[in-house]
Amino acid sequence: MNALAARDLSFAYPDGTTAIEGLDLTIEAGERVAILGPNGAGKSTLLSLLAGLREPAGGEMSYFETDDPADELRDRIAHCPQAPADYLFNATVREDLEYGPAQLGIDRREAADRVDALAAEFKLESLLEKPPFRLSGGEQRRAALAAALAVEPDLLLLDEPVADVDAGHRETILDALDARNEDGTTIVVSTPDADLVAHVADRVVLLDHEGSIVRDGPVRAVLTDDELLGEVGVSPPQLVEAFQRAGVEDPPLTVEEAVERLRDGSHC
Ligand SMILES: Nc1ncnc2c1ncn2[C@@H]1O[C@H](COP(=O)(O)OP(=O)(O)OP(=O)(O)O)[C@@H](O)[C@H]1O
Ligand SMILES: [Mg+2]
Repeated sequence: MNALAARDLSFAYPDGTTAIEGLDLTIEAGERVAILGPNGAGKSTLLSLLAGLREPAGGEMSYFETDDPADELRDRIAHCPQAPADYLFNATVREDLEYGPAQLGIDRREAADRVDALAAEFKLESLLEKPPFRLSGGEQRRAALAAALAVEPDLLLLDEPVADVDAGHRETILDALDARNEDGTTIVVSTPDADLVAHVADRVVLLDHEGSIVRDGPVRAVLTDDELLGEVGVSPPQLVEAFQRAGVEDPPLTVEEAVERLRDGSHC
């Protein structure tokens, strides 16, 4: 089943900036997809269009193979914006985490259980009674992701979900996304960082400066195409670059993979 299908999607801002043009994208339920592209490519615009938060200038969108618009599927779709503060507007972090379940009419005890579990998972326990605007950037990111997950969505649209996050909390977030995906949640992540892609996706949609898809394919094929990445202004993952420069044709994408190769000597 499709989680979403966009056909000939286009969008321009009121000042005339065309952010997305003639874009076709179908994402199957349960997929992990990264939208990769340089600054200004239109990644955030695309995610907000996919979330139904903006009216496209042209094209069609459908979700879960129904005719229902995104706003009627609110409880199935969660969108976490690039600036996490945009997602945090209640008096305390706890209220932000409770907000989504309350909107869906979820029983208060069930909602409280969800908030406790998410606070533990995202290491937010000591921050729950704080006003969100007093949180650090990385803390806001974790709070916003936890708030998005509180509605237990089927489709997660995450704009740069580990920006400003330290290495330890990055693992926490990546583990949380893996766990949701194993439970069947469709995950779409946007990022300008090719190093992140192999950790969050199996498929990459590469955007150029004009907001057009220049490649849509498996992570390994796209991330090892240094020529194509160079053309759109995205650096390949550091490991890919290092191994390619050392003459390895099929470079590893992750540290784990690199260590395995180096141990068994298959790098040369
Ligand atoms: N409110 C706006 N009004 C006019 N132009 C805008 C507006 N928001 C974004 N843009 C323009 O639309 C284009 C796409 O912006 P968008 O934020 O989607 O890019 P992005 O790929 O998410 O970039 P980044 O990697 O920096 O987050 C850019 O050229 C940007 O300048
Ligand atoms: Mg962006």
